[in-house]
Amino acid sequence: ENAQLKDIISHAKEYGFVYPSSEIYDGLQAVYDYGAYGVELKNNLKRLWWESMTRLNDNIVGIDASIFMHPTTWKASGHVDSFNDPMIDNKDSKKRYRADVLIEDRALAMEKEGKVEEAQQLLSAMGKLLEAEDLDGVRDLIVNENITCPISGTTNWTDVRQFNLMFSTQVGSVAEDSSTIYLRPETAQGIFVNFLNVQKTARMKVPFGIAQIGKAFRNEIVARQFIFRMREFEQMEMQFFVRPGTELDWYKSWAATRLSWHKALGIPADKLRTHDHEKLAHYANAAMDIEFEFPFGFKEVEGIHSRTDFDLKSHQEFSKKKQQYFDPEVNQNYIPYVVETSIGADRLFLMTLCNAFTEESNEEGKSRTYLKLHPALAPVKAAILPLTKKDGLPEKGKEIVSKLKYDFNIIYEEAGSIGKRYTRQDLIGTPFCIAVDHQTLEDDTVTIRHRDTTEQERVPISELHGRIAEATSF
Ligand code: GAP
Repeated sequence: ENAQLKDIISHAKEYGFVYPSSEIYDGLQAVYDYGAYGVELKNNLKRLWWESMTRLNDNIVGIDASIFMHPTTWKASGHVDSFNDPMIDNKDSKKRYRADVLIEDRALAMEKEGKVEEAQQLLSAMGKLLEAEDLDGVRDLIVNENITCPISGTTNWTDVRQFNLMFSTQVGSVAEDSSTIYLRPETAQGIFVNFLNVQKTARMKVPFGIAQIGKAFRNEIVARQFIFRMREFEQMEMQFFVRPGTELDWYKSWAATRLSWHKALGIPADKLRTHDHEKLAHYANAAMDIEFEFPFGFKEVEGIHSRTDFDLKSHQEFSKKKQQYFDPEVNQNYIPYVVETSIGADRLFLMTLCNAFTEESNEEGKSRTYLKLHPALAPVKAAILPLTKKDGLPEKGKEIVSKLKYDFNIIYEEAGSIGKRYTRQDLIGTPFCIAVDHQTLEDDTVTIRHRDTTEQERVPISELHGRIAEATSF
């Protein structure tokens, strides 16, 4: 892991954002827990996504479907047959690797050595083999490139095999009654199987969308880069149902909308780019990723997919229940086409954290670390800090807290020097530190210290609510 990512991981742990899951037992690979400030930041991200989908669009409504679904769902969706990663084992270390990741790593190393063209050739050869499902060819590529196992250092590889990414478990108490069900690998299917329920009960007319936030599970073999790739994660998906033939226009318009959403949350344009998929998933006729420049390079944060009528049509076939919509405008029955926007809440969280993590030094060479979060995202909006623990300043401070706490997440802290207390708030990204001093008792004014500039200004207590509300609105 590179140095900057390491700093971000330790910052996340040290200041209550993200911890490895069950850490006292040395953690569980690719599973993480969110701490006191992490959960606030994640909730803010989820809320802003939810509101910008459902409130800003009168034709998008939400649902909350279950993680468990009827097992046939995953036959119909194609996940039982096609949701695979190509895996290879090293016979000496007995370690299993994703074959495509081994090759990607080699290409990355080539690029670093300046062999950019060779790297591109290798990746494109791999792409073609995977598309043709030529697993022996993929193995030959690994052998010919002399790719060694990172653990044993040998090239003693098995064949490449497809490995399904879905977790399965049993329902039913006795063996004979039980049947295998899966933990959903994407939230989308909960929306597809409820398409008609929602359309009818919320009286929606095509084009309309259904949004959902929920957990998804994938048995990722290569777990790297912190919360970038997890086995248990949260997705925020919106499926937009459109008239057949209009899907590519909607696809372009949703891609533009989602890109501007990221920019509005403070991600600079030069750290974002889009990447059109050459290799399309089994359900798509167009697909692109919105990528962010993480410390480990440009990587996918969100996918925009034109899924055609693949899912609804397939559910109609498997369930024998019509999945059609009557469109009064064209006087026709049809299975709508779907454009989806799909983003991982955890990956969005990582992007936000990487983008906010700031290390600066001032003119005297003193360095300062702070999280430059959009105030709407900051876990704590303001810290109320009485200068001393006596003379009635704590009481005055608490009075201010009680004026603000119903609308904002506020911290009250009276221990330690004011400088140390400012530093602590910088580290969790609190946009406003509000110092209560002796003058406050005389004229009901306080000092606001701004996180990004460290500048201070004197304002009446009566203005605090309005100031914070304005800055934290999105
Ligand atoms: N319904 C479409 C779908 O699931 P995807 O590209 O497989 O598409 C969408 O996933 C988004 O979910 C990704 O862009 C990413 O943000 C997030 N995601 C996928 N797998 C993930 C994982 N293992 N850990 C964290 N986030 C993940």
